[in-house]
Amino acid sequence: MEFGKLLSCKTEGNRVLLHFEKADGRLEVITDKILNVFSGVVSQEHRSKAIEGEKANGASFTVTPAIGEGKGEACVTISTQSVTAKVFDEFKVDFYAADGRVLCRDYRKERRRAAGLSDEMKALKASEGHQVEEEDGSEGIQVIKRMEGDESFYGLGDKTGFLDKRGYEYVMWNTDDPAPQMDNFKSLYKSIPFFITLRKDAVFGLFFDNPYRSCFDMGKESDDYYWYGVSDGNLDYYLIAGDNMAEVLGNYTYLTGTAPLPQKWTLGYQQSRWSYMTEEEIRSVAKKMRECGIPCDAIHLDIDYMDGYRVFTWNKDRYDSPEKMMEDLAKDGFKIVTIIDPGVKLDEGYSVYDEGVEKGYFATTPEGEIYVNAVWPGDAVYPDFGRPAVREWWGKNQRFLLDKGVRGVWNDMNEPASFRGELPANVVFTDEDEKADHARMHNLYGHNMAKATYEGLKKQDGRRPFVITRACYAGTQKYSTAWTGDNHSIWAHLQMVIPQLCNLGMSGMPFVGTDVGGFGSDCTKELMCRWVEAAAFSPLFRNHSAVGTRYQEPWQFDEETLDIYRKAVKLRYRLIPYLYDLFFEGETTGLPIMRPLVLHYEKDATVRNLNGEFLVGENLLAAPVVNPGERVKTVYLPEGEWYDYRTKEKVEGGRFLVKDAPLDTCPLYVKAGTVLPVWPEMNYTDEKDTDSELLLEVFPGSGSFDHYQDDGETFAYRDGAFNRYRCELTQDGRLTVTCVHGGYEKKYRKVRVLCLGKEAEGAFEEGKCEIRL
Ligand code: GLC
Repeated sequence: MEFGKLLSCKTEGNRVLLHFEKADGRLEVITDKILNVFSGVVSQEHRSKAIEGEKANGASFTVTPAIGEGKGEACVTISTQSVTAKVFDEFKVDFYAADGRVLCRDYRKERRRAAGLSDEMKALKASEGHQVEEEDGSEGIQVIKRMEGDESFYGLGDKTGFLDKRGYEYVMWNTDDPAPQMDNFKSLYKSIPFFITLRKDAVFGLFFDNPYRSCFDMGKESDDYYWYGVSDGNLDYYLIAGDNMAEVLGNYTYLTGTAPLPQKWTLGYQQSRWSYMTEEEIRSVAKKMRECGIPCDAIHLDIDYMDGYRVFTWNKDRYDSPEKMMEDLAKDGFKIVTIIDPGVKLDEGYSVYDEGVEKGYFATTPEGEIYVNAVWPGDAVYPDFGRPAVREWWGKNQRFLLDKGVRGVWNDMNEPASFRGELPANVVFTDEDEKADHARMHNLYGHNMAKATYEGLKKQDGRRPFVITRACYAGTQKYSTAWTGDNHSIWAHLQMVIPQLCNLGMSGMPFVGTDVGGFGSDCTKELMCRWVEAAAFSPLFRNHSAVGTRYQEPWQFDEETLDIYRKAVKLRYRLIPYLYDLFFEGETTGLPIMRPLVLHYEKDATVRNLNGEFLVGENLLAAPVVNPGERVKTVYLPEGEWYDYRTKEKVEGGRFLVKDAPLDTCPLYVKAGTVLPVWPEMNYTDEKDTDSELLLEVFPGSGSFDHYQDDGETFAYRDGAFNRYRCELTQDGRLTVTCVHGGYEKKYRKVRVLCLGKEAEGAFEEGKCEIRL
């Protein structure tokens, strides 16, 4: 895009309209720390699907134009209290912090592209079967930022590889590619065009809110710049400032929304397989879980529960009565989650298809015929989720599942997947009330489907909806959890769990998980043990595997594996109250559950690309073994004092240490001064009363932690029906637990504390409980 010389500017409300020779642009002040750069190529207003509602909060700002004779290079300076943007010719924009530090500046020179391959070389390369990469072509709009020096990049949604994305190139195009995902994959199922840049003297985020296929080169082409390119839509991006990474992430989720508090049981262990084929098999998996003493809250039904892969149907031959099955399982604490794909079987006489055809709810060809491709049921058609009426219809269809007793809906194949080649760019979809095409709606498809599912469940069930999605766009966290799709039972994919889930968290998606044990390929005993040890801390905790691969339920290996598995899942259940508290806080702060160390220790260069460990909240540090044969782990503990969670030994941080890690152990550390709410042993989340006594594990030091109590299921907490307990721990060993908000009728009567092997108790009196440790 060319803008030419900056000729004039004018302020209208929170917008500074910038008139250039060849095109117009504007800079919009959203908040003191969020500025939007916009040029309306295809529309004059934002077309955001990620941001809902008005976010501009009236922050004050000043505008200083320096345009005209004798003023040197034209420049408009826009300053809030925290950020200054300087706009120049060609709509080049430089951002500074209030103290003058550079945040980011546009690169002024031309990109230095590598020469493309000749057709001859391409043919030669292809002849051995090598992939010949096409030039991405996402270059209609380009934003090139100067590399100031020691940049590291985090976020970018769900990408392969390691934590720091510097030096790699990615493409935002939701992609269903079942090949084992490697570091060199440019795209996966999700497109979240947001990243955080960290330098030793600056931190900020950039969010490019444009759903078209886009390219993010994080310094692959050159060490002098990183660039973003997109072929269509508007130039529409946000500079997101903050005093630290946590604040930047908080500001990003202020824009795109935070994940709502989930039902408590969804934090429990979940078992899946493509597919448990019959009612009998499901009942036997449930029975075996209890017999083996593996805590478990949910079993997932993959595509074979349906009648011929027709969504919103149930196979009558394989199930005597799904209702009765779910009722019986519920008595033993099991909930059922069912898969729902977007592709509707082309089948006259099938009510979902017929109704969709009659109402015109499916995507069409440019000629107006219903567009047909293929997924599991064979010929299938694609609901046009961008349309409110279609979302509403889809939402209502969830009734079919709810009536049977289903407690969660797993949305798969919503990139959308298609077995007969990708949908052509010109397939006709709708964007709210505007005609649109596949190129524009592709990356939003999963987002809109998840939204339809969430809203349908919320309206008809009243409980906090549990939706899992494979495809996402920015902002999907408001509606859905996500899993990382079809990984494999290989060590490389266990290693990837840490950076992949951490970067999803840094992209605003906290409730995420991988297929534990790996989906494709065959899991070994050792890999299973190490995977469950790591995944016990991942927010979504589901073992899932593909048809034709080795079964990987906990008992499929040997006694030792079963014992190790049980130990890991039990630890998970012990920590559920802590995880739940993190979710409660996260709904306000946008902070994830699983965090890379860099999120809290950004000044520590050692953790910039630390891929083998992670934080759970701020206070727990897990360092799982992710290599075969290893029985020790090199752990980095950041500054401060830590405790080994198991031995209670005190360890000084700010150094690497080598920790014994036998096959049954994932090294786990707790920061000094931590108060950790925990649960007693349970087979499933509400098996025992946990509302009378608050159980805390305490690690000496000084610190404070907020613990929440509510019904764990409904939205009543939003009307204040929750209790908040502030736990304050002082260096001299005094713990005070004070009920600082008391809106939920059930209240703890006493507190039991476990501290370095010693126990103490106290009772609440007028909302306060004091214990000397
Ligand atoms: C896709 C999903 C996988 C599922 C399978 C069958 O591959 O990613 O989780 O089991 O489809 O539905």
